[in-house]
This record gives sequence, C-alpha cells and structure tokens, in this order.
Amino acid sequence: MEVTPIVSTQPPNGQASHPESYTSHNPDASNPDASNPDASNTDPSSATQPKSSSASVIEIWGGTPLSGHIPISGAKNSALVVLGGTLLCSQTCRIRNIPDLMDIGRMASVLEALGLRVSRNGSTLDIDASHVSHSKAPYDIVSKLRASFFVIGPLLARLGVARVPLPGGCAIGARPVELHIRGLQALGAHVHMDHGIVHAYVPGARGKLKGAKIYLDYPSVGATETLMMAATLAEGETVIENAAQEPEVVDLANFCRAMGAKIRGAGTNTITIMGVPSLHTTDYAIIPDRIEAGTYLVAGALTRSEITVGPVNPNHLTPLLAKLRETGSTIAIEEHNIIRISPGERIASTDVQTLPYPGFPTDMQAQFMALLTLAEGNSMVTETVFENRLQHVAEFNRMGADIRVKGDCAVVRGVSQLSGAPVTGSDLRASAALAIAGLAAKGKTTLHGLHHLDRGYEKFEEKLTNVGARLRRIPLSEADSAAQPTIPADVAPAAVAVPAS
Ligand code: UD1
Repeated sequence: MEVTPIVSTQPPNGQASHPESYTSHNPDASNPDASNPDASNTDPSSATQPKSSSASVIEIWGGTPLSGHIPISGAKNSALVVLGGTLLCSQTCRIRNIPDLMDIGRMASVLEALGLRVSRNGSTLDIDASHVSHSKAPYDIVSKLRASFFVIGPLLARLGVARVPLPGGCAIGARPVELHIRGLQALGAHVHMDHGIVHAYVPGARGKLKGAKIYLDYPSVGATETLMMAATLAEGETVIENAAQEPEVVDLANFCRAMGAKIRGAGTNTITIMGVPSLHTTDYAIIPDRIEAGTYLVAGALTRSEITVGPVNPNHLTPLLAKLRETGSTIAIEEHNIIRISPGERIASTDVQTLPYPGFPTDMQAQFMALLTLAEGNSMVTETVFENRLQHVAEFNRMGADIRVKGDCAVVRGVSQLSGAPVTGSDLRASAALAIAGLAAKGKTTLHGLHHLDRGYEKFEEKLTNVGARLRRIPLSEADSAAQPTIPADVAPAAVAVPAS
C-alpha cells in the first residue's frame, strides 16, 4: 500500500520568530540533526540525557526527618501529550509550566524532527507548528519514549498521513498500541505495519478523518489521548466510550479546547468530540504533577516528617490521600492547593490495588509499597494495570524489607527498619520509590540507574535537600558501595525550608 512519504504545509505569513531553539536553551535535549527532519539515526541518549545520568549514582543517608515545603512541577505526562497536541495547530502555541526533564527533551526532539520549531524560556515552551515538514517520527526517540508514539493521532489529523515506529515493550510490560490503531481505523485511517513502523493514512483527496463511535476495550490513557487529538480535526462527531478519565486526559482536552476544539465529557468515561476545520494558537499552562506530589507526600510519611507539597490539585490525589490517611498520616488541604502531611504514631498496614483513574494510580504503586515495608502488620499490593510492575520488590528486600510476590500480588510484611543498600530502579517510579525508602533507611543507600529517575523528576536531589534530606549525586567511579560510611562533610546538614502555610 502506498503511503505518501512527505507532506508539507506552508508557513503562514507573519509566523512567529524563534531566536533560539529549545535545544539551544537545553543542550542536553538537543537533536543534533534537527535540520534533517527524517533524522531517524538521531541518538537521543546523547542528545537528551544529562551526561551524568547513566554514569552517576545518588547516595542517600537515611534517618534525617524532613521539614519544609516541596514545590511541585508541571505534570510530565500532561506536558508530553500537550506538546504532541501542538501538531494540531498551524500556528505557534505557548505552553507554560513544562518541567525540565529528559522525556520532555525527547518529545521536543520528535517535534523538531517533524519540522516544528521549539524554543524554551524557563518552564515556557513556544512551539511553532506552522511547518510540518515530515510525517515520520524518528525510531531512536520513539523507542525510548512511548508517549512520542501518541503523535500519530495529531499527525494523521493534520496531514492525513503518519509514520511512527512501534514504541516496543518496556520494563513494566509489553505495552501494546492496538487500541490506538483500532480507534484510528474506526476514524477512517488505513493502517499497516512495515518493518516495525506503523504507517497510517487517510484515503481520499481531502485526507480528513471521519467522526465515529469508538469503544475502548480498556480505558487506556494513551489511546484516549491519541483518538481525542485525532478527532478534533475529523469531519463530524466522535464519541469515545470507556475512555480514560485521568487528569492528564482532561488537561489535554482543555488544551485542545483552548485551541478551539469542541470536546465535552473529558474526565468521564464518555468523551464527545465535534470536529472543527482548524485550530488556533493558544497560551496554556500544564497542571501540576500529581505523581511527583504523591511521591513527596509518601516520602514525608516514610520519614515520619511533617512537610507540605504543592501546588497540586488535591482532587487528583484522592485515592492516595485516602490510603495515606488509612496508614495513619494526617492530611490537611491548605490554601493555594498546598497539601500538608503529618505523621501518625505508627504506620498502619493496608491493602492497595492499582486501577485506572479514579482508582489508585499504578504510577504510585512502588512509592506506596515503600511506605508499607515499614507498616505494622501485613499489606497486600495488587498491580492490575501493568503485567510486570513489581520488579522493585527484589530491591526493597535487599534493603531489609519482607515482601513476597505471587502473580500480580505482593504481600508486604512490615519490618521495623530498612537498611541502606546499593539498589537499582527498574523504571522511573521504582527509582523514586527506592530513593525515598533510602531516606527512611538506616545508613547509606546508593541508587543506580539514574536514567530512569531523570526522565521524570525535576530537580529531585535539590527539592529533597531543601527540606533536609541528605543525598548527593556523584560519579559512579566515586561511589563507595560500603553499607554505612559516615556522612561526608560536603553533604550539607539539613537546609530546612520555611514551611508554606
Ligand atoms: C500512561 C502514562 C503512564 C501510566 C499509564 C497508566 C503517559 C505518558 N504515561 O501510559 O505513566 O502508568 O498511563 O496510568 O501518560 N494497553 C493495551 N493496548 C493499548 C494500550 C494500552 O493493552 O493499545 C494496556 C497497556 O499495556 C497497559 C494498560 O493498557 O497494561 C494501561 O496502559 P495505558 O493506559 O495506555 O498507559 P499509557 O498511556 O502507555
């Protein structure tokens, strides 16, 4: 089946000027061959990764209580998909509250490879999508950033053609994309695979998708986002049933609406999109990251500390806050979307099951398990979203936890103390979970595999150090794997921030 290889749109008159590219602000996120939009040999590991990631470790000395306020960055998962959504608009969009993360650098590289111009000023990105010079996303980046596959929806809607490599599996599961593809087919796209690339095009001279009723077998976040974006420029009405209800889906819908899309029902299980001929520029701020906030709240509970985190929408954290209360913490919602956590007398055990939103988020499972390792009694953690997301259990056990896994369940028998150890995170959230477990452990924990952590936590060490944690990033070659060395003088004693209240 023939697929048009390149589709260009002409930049409109008076397009915004971009004195500096995204990559010139953030050299670690640069695409070395952004001028060649088909640069499928781009190496994002050198282009987007802070060089220290894979060759560094974080040393954490546990046992110091935390105190103060941890500021929360923009939501990584919202930012990634909203960046993809800028492909829908043939003008320049300004997106605020974008965290400075390796994954964001990768998504920016994908957009640049497609011909967009991306420039960064602090946490604000200007994305000029007036000229989409190519319809093929580069393999090297898509294979490292699953969310970049989601550009297939807006590319197809905008150009009528898209070629995106299959994202492949990852540490936490196979993560197929058949729901995305079946949905795009329902919207009228012809889709086939060829040498690991998904080729999609819309037949007919107009190249326009057609609205349809789509039932998702599972409320996949990515499939909902892909199809919602695709439907914004389709002819007629699209209804997505059994849609994902995550706050990031709502954020994407709000962004699309700010560009003129007609979407209702985002945040429920039925989303209705009435296609419009085109979308216009907007200035949009990403929501705060509920998973980053949740991670630090659990760090507070683990270290028996009183801290505040925010801003973050407390409603986005309902299941986690309920479970933290069950385990004995006191949670107070303060002004300006600040959440205060105070420790109880003890950490009580509880059971938790991950589910699509508004259930307990799979992205908080590892961190919450870290808390349960120190609970009084037995807890059961059931992972239902991903089939291979309990790999951190072995690392927790290395720190003295007592956890057994059977199938998708982990039985956590609480212990009175964790002990620092060298550990490696299997994925982003597992890495964060091990780091916060290290804050509560006796002695030194050395966290390896920082390329995971750097994907998703902005200023991780800085934010924790500012509330009194003792940790530092050092080159792997300098790491001392001895279990309990004394705290080096250069790991500053707690620089306790003033609590926000
Ligand atoms: C998004 C989040 C990720 C989070 C996950 C679940 C981003 C960038 N990532 O990932 O952090 O852990 O939601 O909340 O937003 N599935 C299929 N077929 C498909 C699509 C998905 O079987 O076509 C399965 C997956 O393998 C997985 C489950 O559905 O078992 C959930 O996946 P999905 O909701 O799609 O997660 P992502 O969008 O990839």
